Amino acid sequence: MGNLILKDIHTYFGTSHILFGISLEVRQGECVCLLGRNGVGKTTTLKSIMGLAESREGEITFDGKSLVGLPPYEIARMGVGYVPEDRIVFPDLTVRENLEIAAKPPLTADIPPWTANGIFELFPALKPLENRPAGYLSGGEQQMLTIGRTLMGNPRMMLLDEPVEGIAPVVVQEIVRKIRHLKELGLTILFTEQNIRFATDISDRAYIIEGGRVRYAGTMTDLEEQPDIKQKYLMI
Ligand SMILES: Nc1ncnc2c1ncn2[C@@H]1O[C@H](COP(=O)(O)OP(=O)(O)OP(=O)(O)O)[C@@H](O)[C@H]1O
Ligand SMILES: [Mg+2]
Repeated sequence: MGNLILKDIHTYFGTSHILFGISLEVRQGECVCLLGRNGVGKTTTLKSIMGLAESREGEITFDGKSLVGLPPYEIARMGVGYVPEDRIVFPDLTVRENLEIAAKPPLTADIPPWTANGIFELFPALKPLENRPAGYLSGGEQQMLTIGRTLMGNPRMMLLDEPVEGIAPVVVQEIVRKIRHLKELGLTILFTEQNIRFATDISDRAYIIEGGRVRYAGTMTDLEEQPDIKQKYLMI
């Protein structure tokens, strides 16, 4: 479980046509990266999956079930976790409270549910902060908390929007390592990134988006050998 397929998605904001036939696939247990520069449609693709942006054409299925037209909370309930780029936490609640209010039982009994203590084991930097209001956290700590909060919903798949953008380099390495660990635990992952360097460490495959279209699809190893494509579409 955890297979996501997008077929020829066209997404609009009002009358603005933003995605022009995006097709992609993330298979169970894979970590796939959506690469591309500013404003190319990465966030809009994740929002289309989550039901936060309107796809007027095309199909989106998760484990064979159509997501198009469903409200975001139902998509979340089907096991798709979303970590948006804005990293909003409840500033007046403590770190532990932020985690505990996000708890949802797993869809199947075969995987033990996440607990706040489990999140503190995953991100030890959060443990000493557990009773602190989340509004006082640094950007990197807030990102760990938003990832932790999404995990508390026991998703089968995680969508992460530029998880290391604007984060201090030492914390970037920590977050990259933990995303890799989550993949090893069997979670299916789709994340966006502008910089190929972070993506290479954790992704099995990548799609490059530009102008609301997929311009490249392939393994990270193949992409490494295509300097012209990297030069044209990516920050390197
Ligand atoms: N709510 C909206 N209403 C209208 N246009 C929007 C809206 N959100 C995004 N857009 C437009 O859609 C296009 C794609 O934006 P999107 O946020 O998906 O890009 P992105 O690849 O995530 O960029 P970034 O790397 O800066 O986050 C941009 O031209 C943007 O201006
Ligand atoms: Mg974005």
